Amino acid sequence: PRPILLTRHGESRDNVRGRIGGDTALSEAGELYMKKLANFVEKRLKSERTASIWTSTLQRTILTAGPIVGFPKIQWRALDEINAGVCDGMTYEEIKKNMPEEYESRKKDKLRYRYPRGESYLDVIQRLEPVIIELERQRAPVVVISHQAVLRALYAYFADRPLKEIPHIEVPLHTIIEIQMGVTGVQEKRYKLMD
Ligand code: G3H
Repeated sequence: PRPILLTRHGESRDNVRGRIGGDTALSEAGELYMKKLANFVEKRLKSERTASIWTSTLQRTILTAGPIVGFPKIQWRALDEINAGVCDGMTYEEIKKNMPEEYESRKKDKLRYRYPRGESYLDVIQRLEPVIIELERQRAPVVVISHQAVLRALYAYFADRPLKEIPHIEVPLHTIIEIQMGVTGVQEKRYKLMD
């Protein structure tokens, strides 16, 4: 069995302000996680001859991967966060106040709701297909550093969770979800590196 390690980027400055989307750098807590993650990966993959680190093209994931050395890093646009379209950069409060119909339709059907000029969860699930095919083909461990909506979809694929649950799966910050694919099925471990 070989592990797939899934993690969100360290907390970003936009996370602190409650803003969705964007492309900000890490907060202080996020920078601490970045260091803890590098230590963890170094120990966890010490005995592995090869492995690779996959990030999105957004700086919060690239920065989070920064201190991890010794393994190739690959950037995937398909690992970018759900595109919130016209709502990019807003807080949920602002969406509720300024675009109440959008807020309500998303609440009603979060899986299918597509942000104006942006994406739905179904869109994200679809664009992840090549990533999943490549993950399945890998023989060596992969560390995937991505975003909440994307990791919900990836996790659901490996953990065999139903489509309708995907937008509601908890993928906390600063936690590594380790998936082991063996002959007897999929096993999961979680490592919470900080609060
Ligand atoms: O910025 C987007 C979030 O990571 C996705 O969260 O789909 O629960 O709004 P949400």
